[in-house]
Amino acid sequence: MPLAHMKPMLKKAQLEKFGVAAFNMIDYNSARAVVDGAQELNAPVIIQLSVKTINLWGFQPIAEWVRMLSDSVDVPVALHLDHCKDLNVIKNCIDAGWTSVMFDGSSLSFKENIRQTKLAYEIATSAGVGLEAEIGAIGGTEDDKFVAEDDAILANVDECVEFCQHFPDLAVFAPAIGTAHGVYKGEPNIAYDRLTEITSSVDIPIALHGGTGLEAEQFSRCISSGCAKVNISTMHKLQFIQGFTGLKETQPNLGEPIPFIDAQYELMKKGVKDMIALFGSQGKA
Ligand code: 13P
Repeated sequence: MPLAHMKPMLKKAQLEKFGVAAFNMIDYNSARAVVDGAQELNAPVIIQLSVKTINLWGFQPIAEWVRMLSDSVDVPVALHLDHCKDLNVIKNCIDAGWTSVMFDGSSLSFKENIRQTKLAYEIATSAGVGLEAEIGAIGGTEDDKFVAEDDAILANVDECVEFCQHFPDLAVFAPAIGTAHGVYKGEPNIAYDRLTEITSSVDIPIALHGGTGLEAEQFSRCISSGCAKVNISTMHKLQFIQGFTGLKETQPNLGEPIPFIDAQYELMKKGVKDMIALFGSQGKA
């Protein structure tokens, strides 16, 4: 089916209390593993990209790949731009066919975040595309952004309420609730109370960033408290690499590339299906 919009997909997830998995794709093979995994479990899914990956492949090839893959299945697939501060990149994604975009103003002051998010909101909503916006500071590394553990800041509830009043049509809201991008160094310290306070004051689906490394019980508490979009990047990237290196270890003399691509695809697709099943979106297409 044609590329789907993220807002209705996430509204349904919020109401029915399941999580839509959002994977950071790397290349065509990775996007194929995500879309096929979702199709096999009859689940809605989000393919998202960091700016670094877009710079590698270009806007048009990515949009073409994902559109083609989406056309070949009958589950909703949204194409989303992950953390981005550059309005030109946001415009280029929308022009190329992305169905949602994120503006990440979380490193700005609260006022400046609102001011700049308004510019992105105007661009996205006038094009009929959903917007994700963030406040607080999510720890860890994503793309070129690094937030040290000590600098991670939980989103303030009053600020969440004020922020969202400016953006009634926001597709998804990303308040920092203690999760972190990348591999967790210690036990993740999720502020469930803060999450519940936010979701009882703000009626917008919440994005859970930093999904890699969380336990089933942590996902399920976050999802039942209103997290409708669950981001997985690091796990997918590690499986992308492990697909190749795992086969190389067992068959060091193999010189034919296609078995490597197949091994990588199967490993990534298994990861995709595991996450979809864990987030309760299986059968929810
Ligand atoms: P992980 O890399 O921890 O899976 O986080 C992904 C993410 O939140 C992308 O924005």
